[in-house]
Amino acid sequence: MKKVGVLTGGGDCPGLNATIRAVVRKGIKDYNYKMYGILEGWKGLIDGNIKELDMNSVSGILPRGGTILGTSRTNPFGKDNKGDPERILENIKKFNLYAIATIGGEDTQGAAFKLSEMGVNIVGLPKTIDNDLQGTDYTFGFDTAVNIATEAIDRLHTTAESHNRVMVVEVMGRHTGWIATFAGIAGGADIILIPEKPVNMEEVYEIIKRRHKRGRNFSIVVVSEGIKLPLEDKEEGGYILQSTEKDAYGHVMLGGVGSILAKMIEKGTGFETRCTVLGHTQRGGTPTSFDRILGTRFGIAAMELIHKGEFGKIVVLRGNEIIPIELKEIMGQYKTVDDYWYDLARVFFG
Ligand code: F6P
Repeated sequence: MKKVGVLTGGGDCPGLNATIRAVVRKGIKDYNYKMYGILEGWKGLIDGNIKELDMNSVSGILPRGGTILGTSRTNPFGKDNKGDPERILENIKKFNLYAIATIGGEDTQGAAFKLSEMGVNIVGLPKTIDNDLQGTDYTFGFDTAVNIATEAIDRLHTTAESHNRVMVVEVMGRHTGWIATFAGIAGGADIILIPEKPVNMEEVYEIIKRRHKRGRNFSIVVVSEGIKLPLEDKEEGGYILQSTEKDAYGHVMLGGVGSILAKMIEKGTGFETRCTVLGHTQRGGTPTSFDRILGTRFGIAAMELIHKGEFGKIVVLRGNEIIPIELKEIMGQYKTVDDYWYDLARVFFG
């Protein structure tokens, strides 16, 4: 009986449990594999922390947010983690794992790629609320995050209107503006600011003033956490960082740009302005049916690849098809918001 492991790495997102459920059920029911959950991402393989998953252990988890396996941003190839790849290889041998399904974003899949080059049988599954993974049209988690942000924008509309205020809504997305663009379009934002487009504050003030002049006495500004704000003391502007510390993959902690932007807008337009930071609410709670179905499809397709012995690949969504591509194809750069989406959003500015 072959033993197959599954792990979730990086930031959590809605749809992880639906995906784990699909991986485990497909493995047990169709291929008679013994399935194992690796706890807390790569950390579980470094520490040898795994547990068997039977049909009952994945029962009832489909609508649940988070991940029953736990997750971490542990990077086995980080500079402080000397010897971790070797420990992983030892544990794979010790537990006799034939293959591993790695559910994660670019960081987790980057480590997966390096391990597959070292001979580990790996198949990747793409997740992240940021939707910034190259090679796939969508990652699961994104649709739920967009829905949460859209609902927040709808709610902010009514209070903004009552008080004649400008409401700034800060959303996640790291260095890409997918959540901001989609939630902004769906929620009817009056301005959307994303990292892909340089911010021109004079234009922002102008759009808001023009809108208020035509009798719309409130505005909704959606801002992505990763924009570079042109600050007075910095010619080029810079990211607003919660902390200068970096995580194991070298990412800085973003967040806080919204409140600075709100102050600038109030000063630049004279309109009372408030800021709401959605933060981790965008990652919590029950996944949308779209994310449950996408994660389920990825889970089934990944197990089919493992069964065929096609390793070093990741399953992705292209159009309405789930296809396998090489893990190395998703490495290197983020998938950014293209002009099609931003031009569409811009029609509704002001
Ligand atoms: O990558 C997902 C994400 O939620 C980003 O949008 C955000 O910048 C980051 O993770 C937050 O990370 P953490 O959960 O470590 O605060």
